[in-house]
Amino acid sequence: MTLGRAFSVGLNAFRARVVEVQANTSRGTPGFFITGLADVALREARDRVRPAIVNSGGNFPELKVVVALAPANMPKAGPGFDLAMAVSIVLADKDADDKLLEAGAMLVPSTVFLGELGLDGAIRPVRGVLPCLLEARRAGFVRAVVPRANMAEAGLVSGIEIHGATRFADVCRWLRGDAELDDEPPPVDGLTVPSPDMADVVGQGQARRALEIAAAGMHHILMTGPPGIGKTMLARRLPGILPSLGEDEALEVTAIHSIAGALPRRRPLIVEPPFIAPHHSVTVTALLGGGTGTARPGVASLAHRGVLFLDECAEMGAKALDALRQPLEEGEVRVTRRDGVATYPARLQLVLAANPCPCAPAHDIDCVCSVVARRRYLGKLSGPLMDRIDIRVRMNPPGNTALLTECGEPSTAVRERVVAARDAAVARWAHHGWRTNGEVPGSVLRGEFRLGPEAMRPVELFLRDGRVTARGADRALRLAWTLADLRGAERPNQDDVAQALLYRDRGGAA
Ligand SMILES: Nc1ncnc2c1ncn2[C@@H]1O[C@H](COP(=O)(O)OP(=O)(O)O)[C@@H](O)[C@H]1O
Ligand SMILES: [Mg+2]
Ligand SMILES: [Zn+2]
Repeated sequence: MTLGRAFSVGLNAFRARVVEVQANTSRGTPGFFITGLADVALREARDRVRPAIVNSGGNFPELKVVVALAPANMPKAGPGFDLAMAVSIVLADKDADDKLLEAGAMLVPSTVFLGELGLDGAIRPVRGVLPCLLEARRAGFVRAVVPRANMAEAGLVSGIEIHGATRFADVCRWLRGDAELDDEPPPVDGLTVPSPDMADVVGQGQARRALEIAAAGMHHILMTGPPGIGKTMLARRLPGILPSLGEDEALEVTAIHSIAGALPRRRPLIVEPPFIAPHHSVTVTALLGGGTGTARPGVASLAHRGVLFLDECAEMGAKALDALRQPLEEGEVRVTRRDGVATYPARLQLVLAANPCPCAPAHDIDCVCSVVARRRYLGKLSGPLMDRIDIRVRMNPPGNTALLTECGEPSTAVRERVVAARDAAVARWAHHGWRTNGEVPGSVLRGEFRLGPEAMRPVELFLRDGRVTARGADRALRLAWTLADLRGAERPNQDDVAQALLYRDRGGAA
């Protein structure tokens, strides 16, 4: 009986964990078995690893080969363990040469191996390299062998040696000390996506201002109005007025996109808030993520620390809209799966756009919908979801001359104000760990950061008249802080609070 072992890293939803791969060869009917909560893709490793070893000029032992993955109780998914399995198997071969075994003893205990094998012994790229390497480094591993195609992404992790390989044969030569692997990850520039400019938007002063406030506090916003009025146009200009991600945020966001397999190969670092705009036919699964095996993050998680834009949101299914409540409230997505609950970060800013009714005429007066149809259309958005929307704007057709005369302010100018307001919020909430007003719990706004009776008067009036719910009042207070930040004021005054309440009242569903 001979034992070989190697380490890899597995992903269970967003959580990465080091996995020890042990290969045991023994007499008995020749065969290849994998144990330890392996999913289908992983069990198929048998069909890849054996030919990959043989086609790399190696020897697959003609014995009973059992590969065990530990910890056994952790569900393991996907093909990313192939490389570690192949390494452990060649080390478990009693006929392996001494040089390989020596190297195995030297290098392998402090190395993690990530990669899928092709039948020909090629090493294919895998998802989630960034979070896996962060975990490997945390667990004390000093080097990693990764698919060459994942080198740029792997290079984002400092403090761990990265070796990129394209073929299993190269990894064997490297283990023997006969050859080097590529150990120079290419320098990575952050991926920047040019955003269209706010200067293109003529008129719509109130909506522009609302978008700026939303950007400054990361508040959820709903824009309604007749078609062709610039709702989509304006929403698509939001990324251009948002501050870039901080270093930690960039890695956090990049890790999610890495798990989704959505990173551009050459410029894998996401440095700007993502802007994710799924079609209104998006399913609950696509929104929240899930699926069997390595659960994929949904669009809500891809929008983490950025924007989820749902255009024509009144066309969305009620189930899909309803599914958004939990991530909006908790900043993360929980998906129940056969093997437990998977959790992904999803602290996002929701931007909704909708026509006021199904027939969507340019002027409201031409509407041919029944009263019931009209109410039902936006009514879908009412209730608990709408309670979480801080800003509602009703956009109207511009006056005849507006299109000719009013020139829009460029995004750079708006962004400057947004950045200043965000900085003020970061400084205020720093010791609490929040970055934006949008994520501050209501209890804090009513407690430690309580406003004086003068400033609170509008809230009392609205509550008394039933024009706002208690949760709505909390959200209006959040918005008031953003209005104060944009003014450069220390704290909100009565006017900020009153304005904030009106932003919730306007334009929306009711
Ligand atoms: N305020 C505006 N300023 C400049 N162009 C506009 C404006 N509103 C609409 N447009 C033009 O009309 C087109 C349609 O606007 P869009 O944003 O798609 O409308 P909506 O989403 O409200 O139906 C835009 O691509 C743009 O060319
Ligand atoms: Mg539109
Ligand atoms: Zn209508």
